[in-house]
Amino acid sequence: MDQTIRWAVNHMPKTDDRNLPVMGLSEVRKARAFHESFPQYTTTPLTRLDRMAAYLGLKEVYVKDESYRFGLNAFKVLGGSFAMARYIAGETGRDVSELPYSVLTSDKLREEFGQATFFTATDGNHGRGVAWAAGRLGQKAVVHMPKGSTQTRLENIAKEGAQVDIQEMNYDDCVRLAAKEADETERGVIVQDTAWDGYEEIPSWIMQGYGTMAMEAGEQLKGYGCDRPTHVFVQAGVGSLAGAVVGYFTNLYPDNPPTFVVVEADAAACLCKGAAAGDGDPRIVDGDMQTIMAGLACGEPNTISWDILKNHVKVFIAAPDWVAASGMRMLAAPIKGDAPVTSGESGAAPFGALAAIMTMEEYRDLRHEIGLDENSSVLLFSTEGDTDPERYKNIVWKGLDR
Ligand SMILES: Cc1ncc(COP(=O)(O)O)c(C=O)c1O
Repeated sequence: MDQTIRWAVNHMPKTDDRNLPVMGLSEVRKARAFHESFPQYTTTPLTRLDRMAAYLGLKEVYVKDESYRFGLNAFKVLGGSFAMARYIAGETGRDVSELPYSVLTSDKLREEFGQATFFTATDGNHGRGVAWAAGRLGQKAVVHMPKGSTQTRLENIAKEGAQVDIQEMNYDDCVRLAAKEADETERGVIVQDTAWDGYEEIPSWIMQGYGTMAMEAGEQLKGYGCDRPTHVFVQAGVGSLAGAVVGYFTNLYPDNPPTFVVVEADAAACLCKGAAAGDGDPRIVDGDMQTIMAGLACGEPNTISWDILKNHVKVFIAAPDWVAASGMRMLAAPIKGDAPVTSGESGAAPFGALAAIMTMEEYRDLRHEIGLDENSSVLLFSTEGDTDPERYKNIVWKGLDR
């Protein structure tokens, strides 16, 4: 615990918010309807941790448990699958609402669309989702993983029938490689979970796909009698997920949005770096970005999301690895009477940050800045389960830090 949590309060200049409609409620409803057409679809659990909330000095703590998503142990498939469907819809002159799972996987549509090759780069979860969706839709997938990716994550992608390898380069360079190969391949399409200048349509569909998770959570909160969370904590790699969640809830509660907090891995905290610089321009982190939070090890912000985040987020947090590790342990063994949540490194980082902020005196100023107290209802997303089972056991069972 020698490394402390860093944070930047958002004082960046506001923009015209032109990307907020990407996460408009009607767009997200389309994504939700698409996902509901999958035979594998069920709403993932929203777990309320009452005793943990009391222990932390909060009113309510809710954790959306994405380890149950489509049997893939992470939320990511929501994005890739919806983007691929929208792409195929566009190519075949349809609206995505005309392409539920049964039509998309039909022989008739396969004959009409033929076969494309979907390229992507991934830390693991996004590539697994793309490979899974490509397999179901009779399409090809090529997946590149950054240096340091584990064999287990690679095998999970290979099992879905994709061509996959681990490159001697970081995530952001793998993205450039995948984009280049897609460009050079006949019927090659890059399905990347981040946007850059000139590449915005597919990533905006991916963000809308993530909206399904946020929409479910909003409904589940109501079911618990919580009309609106006061705070939403969301983790970020490139920030597509954070932009989706922040955008959706800003559109859902336009008059009274929750306070949004973004949590990154300290080693890859590009959004926090941008917020600290304060001029509104994005910043980049490069190098190997060593962290246990593989899903958050991305150093170049999604340009669409960045605009949403700088208009609506209150605080950006850079969390060292111990924050994620302690979040994993606390969720695995919460206070007696609360249900456990199997939460992996990238999944548990926001909860670990919340727990540290509420219990460690050195973060009192941050607690006040965010406005967390006994009246707060906090929503968090455990975006993955034990996607790296060996490491999960090392951290949770053996008490190691990696
Ligand atoms: C489990 C998990 N959580 C969170 C994220 C962060 O999402 P984004 O890169 O859109 O910020 C990822 C990204 O791969 C992930 O795999």
